[in-house]
Amino acid sequence: MASTVLDGAALAARIRAGVRDEVAELGEIGLATVLVGEDPASQIYIRLKHKAADEAGINAVDKRLSEETTEEELLEVVEELNADDSIDGILVQTPLPAQIEEARVMRAIDPMKDVDGLHPFNAGQLFFGQPTMVPATPLGIMELLREYRIPVQGARAVVVGRSLIVGRPVAMLLLHENATVTICHSRTDDLAGQTLDADILVVAVGQAGVVSAEMVKEGATVIDVGMNRTEAGLVGDVDPGAADRAAFMTPVPGGVGPMTIAMLLRNAVHAARYRRGVLAFPER
Ligand SMILES: NC(=O)c1ccc[n+]([C@@H]2O[C@H](COP(=O)([O-])OP(=O)(O)OC[C@H]3O[C@@H](n4cnc5c(N)ncnc54)[C@H](OP(=O)(O)O)[C@@H]3O)[C@@H](O)[C@H]2O)c1
Repeated sequence: MASTVLDGAALAARIRAGVRDEVAELGEIGLATVLVGEDPASQIYIRLKHKAADEAGINAVDKRLSEETTEEELLEVVEELNADDSIDGILVQTPLPAQIEEARVMRAIDPMKDVDGLHPFNAGQLFFGQPTMVPATPLGIMELLREYRIPVQGARAVVVGRSLIVGRPVAMLLLHENATVTICHSRTDDLAGQTLDADILVVAVGQAGVVSAEMVKEGATVIDVGMNRTEAGLVGDVDPGAADRAAFMTPVPGGVGPMTIAMLLRNAVHAARYRRGVLAFPER
C-alpha cells in the first residue's frame, strides 16, 4: 500500500500565511542574505528565500559578493549587518569559497540575528536541550512530524548524515523529544541494518538512491531531505519505491524544501520578537 504523503508544500503555505499576519502585527522586519560567488544551486535558494520573504512582507536585503571576496571583507559585511538596527536576521549562504573559513564567519554573526542557527552559541543551546535559534530544515522536519501526529517519544529515529545544518541538529531535536536516536554517516558499517530499524528515518546525504526501498522498515516514516539534480529532474536521497513500505513519506520536491523556507521566515520573526522585547529570550 502506498504511504501517506507528508505534504510540506501545503503545510509551508499555511505557515507562511501565519508569518505574513505576524509581520503585519510586528511592523518592519529585516532579513539580510549574503551570497558569495556564483554557485548555481545557492543562487536558486537565495531567489526562493527572497520571493518568500517578499510575499510575507519581510524586507529582504540581498547582499552579493564576488567569488574573490576575502574573509576579512565578508566579516566586515557581517559586522555592518550586526550593527544595522533595521536587520533582524542574517543568513550567510553556504558553501563559501575555499579562501573563507566558514566557522569563523558563523562565529561573527550576532547569535540573536543568526536565523540559520549555525553560531556556536545556538548550536550549544541546542546541544544543551534549550533550542534557541535552530536551523530551518530540522525545524521544518519536526513541524511535519507534529502536523501528521507521528509519535516521536520512544520511537527509534535513524538520521543518515551528520552535517551541522541538517543531520546533527535534527538528531538533537528528535532526542529532545525523547526519540532513541542513531546518527549514520559515510563510515557507518551496514547502513541497511540501521535504517531497517527506524520508525522515523531522516535521510540527508545528497546522493540519489542512497537509501533503497529494501532499506526501509514497513510502516516507517521517511523524511527525505536530499535534493539531487539529475537528468530526470530533482530527486531525493530515497528511492521513491520506498513509498510502498513506508506509512508516511515526504515527496521530493514538495516535502522538506518548502518547509525549510517557511521555517526560515519564522526564524526571522522569532529574532524580531526578541529584538523588540516581545520575548525575554529567544528560547523555544
Ligand atoms: N530540502 C532542503 O531544504 C534541504 C536543506 C539542506 C540540505 N538539503 C539537501 O540535503 C542533502 C544533504 O545536505 P547536507 O548539507 O546535510 O550535506 P553534507 O554537508 O554534504 O552532508 C552529507 C552527509 O551525508 C553523509 N554521507 C555521505 N555519503 C554517505 C553514505 N554513502 N552513507 C551514509 N552517509 C553518507 C556524510 O557523511 P560524513 O560526515 O562521514 O562525510 C555527511 O554527514 C543534500 O542533497 C542537500 O542539497 C536539502
